[in-house]
Amino acid sequence: MAILDILVTPHPILKTKSKEVEKIDDKIIKQIKDMFETLESLNGVGLAANQVGITNRIFVMNVTADENTKGYPPVAMINPVITWESEEISDITEGCFSVPEQYAGVERPDIVKVKFLDMDGKEREEEYQGLASHCVQHELDHLDGILFVDHLSPLKRNMILKKLKKMQKERML
Ligand code: NI
Repeated sequence: MAILDILVTPHPILKTKSKEVEKIDDKIIKQIKDMFETLESLNGVGLAANQVGITNRIFVMNVTADENTKGYPPVAMINPVITWESEEISDITEGCFSVPEQYAGVERPDIVKVKFLDMDGKEREEEYQGLASHCVQHELDHLDGILFVDHLSPLKRNMILKKLKKMQKERML
């Protein structure tokens, strides 16, 4: 297994709509294992394939560290599709390894149902709430080239991106 490098905005791959996985072969299994290892090394809750430079529709998620979501087992989703979302919205603070050290409240449906293939190629449908639901939606957004900051007002988004740019510049000096 290997720990993969994370792409940071404004990398163009983060804006790319990823392609469906047609066959779950050894290469895909290795990709998923590497993504889980990378996520663990970062103490993260979710990681999408294009964040490590691979433009296929896969993300991994592990929300077991949070008291409220520890009941959801770690999962790799292949070709995920949201099949239902609640009218109720929740506002939860989100961050992203591709927008490092920046955080903001994002409004999303509080509950979603998502259909996907698991690592065994089995079709599953699961329901997620709260932080877990936000994580699923955040990672699924990545597969469509959308970052959490794209859900914010232009003013807020520009503020965050400017702060990030300044941070990146300072660290290069
Ligand atoms: Ni993210």
